[in-house]
Amino acid sequence: MSKLNGKVAVVTGGNSGIGYAAAEDFIANGATVVITGRNAEKVAAAAAELGATGIVADQGSLEDLDQLVSQVKNQFGKVDVLFVNAGIFVPAPVEHISEEHFDSQMDINFKGAVFTLQKFLPILNDGASVINLSSVNAYTGMANTAIYAASKAALNSFTRTAATELAPRKIRVNAVNPGPVATEIFSKSGLPEEAINGFASAMQQRVPLKSFGTPETIAKLVAFLASDDAWFITGAEYNIDGGVNVNPLLAN
Ligand SMILES: NC(=O)c1ccc[n+]([C@@H]2O[C@H](COP(=O)([O-])OP(=O)(O)OC[C@H]3O[C@@H](n4cnc5c(N)ncnc54)[C@H](OP(=O)(O)O)[C@@H]3O)[C@@H](O)[C@H]2O)c1
Repeated sequence: MSKLNGKVAVVTGGNSGIGYAAAEDFIANGATVVITGRNAEKVAAAAAELGATGIVADQGSLEDLDQLVSQVKNQFGKVDVLFVNAGIFVPAPVEHISEEHFDSQMDINFKGAVFTLQKFLPILNDGASVINLSSVNAYTGMANTAIYAASKAALNSFTRTAATELAPRKIRVNAVNPGPVATEIFSKSGLPEEAINGFASAMQQRVPLKSFGTPETIAKLVAFLASDDAWFITGAEYNIDGGVNVNPLLAN
């Protein structure tokens, strides 16, 4: 398959999970790929495994984003696919939300995503595809996820406005809302392993298809949206969640 032949793609947070799988899928489909992440060793190792270019850049830092864009511009010129995927998940009940808890998730998941798109705009080709990795959490009201969920809801709203503004350049902007996907995001959340396991099996029971998703499945949808096959799709949100968003009052 070669639906991304000749395209230059940037994947933020490409050293693990969904970003890594998307980078792998993009490359398998013919794209030249740049991945980012915060951890230099992990970025270098993943880039070498994938056959991608790795650039260390914190999505929450506007200076890092400037550096990233200038490096990509110098090395590759223009960009055709921007997958704004980097994100963190830190659960806390409303009464325990601290300023740091609020800022860290908003800075990376929302502010960082907004400025990633803004700063890449001058080097996005007309007709480029931007995919923002959001979450069904934007809609589910799941306990302990108030700030994470709000960061993703804000990202979905931003996606729609950006899609309108960039349509004259035929730049498409879409969002993907995964349900639970087995990645390192949960072990990085600060929760103890037993809590993660308990929470994972409870969550799985709530998914109508009774399964977590895989990074590779999400990557396939992202690669489709990245490709010219999706030329008529912009400002859209895709739930890929095993049915979580259906939220039935009664299940079977
Ligand atoms: N897994 C799920 O169940 C699920 C469900 C819905 C949505 N999502 C979303 O999917 C996206 C990817 O998450 P994942 O599940 O694949 O988790 P993951 O395996 O932890 O991957 C997250 C990636 O983002 C990078 N990252 C985090 N903060 C960053 C920052 N400030 N700057 C640059 N890179 C940063 C990480 O790199 P470093 O390690 O170097 O920081 C890593 O490469 C996130 O936006 C998440 O909210 C995940």
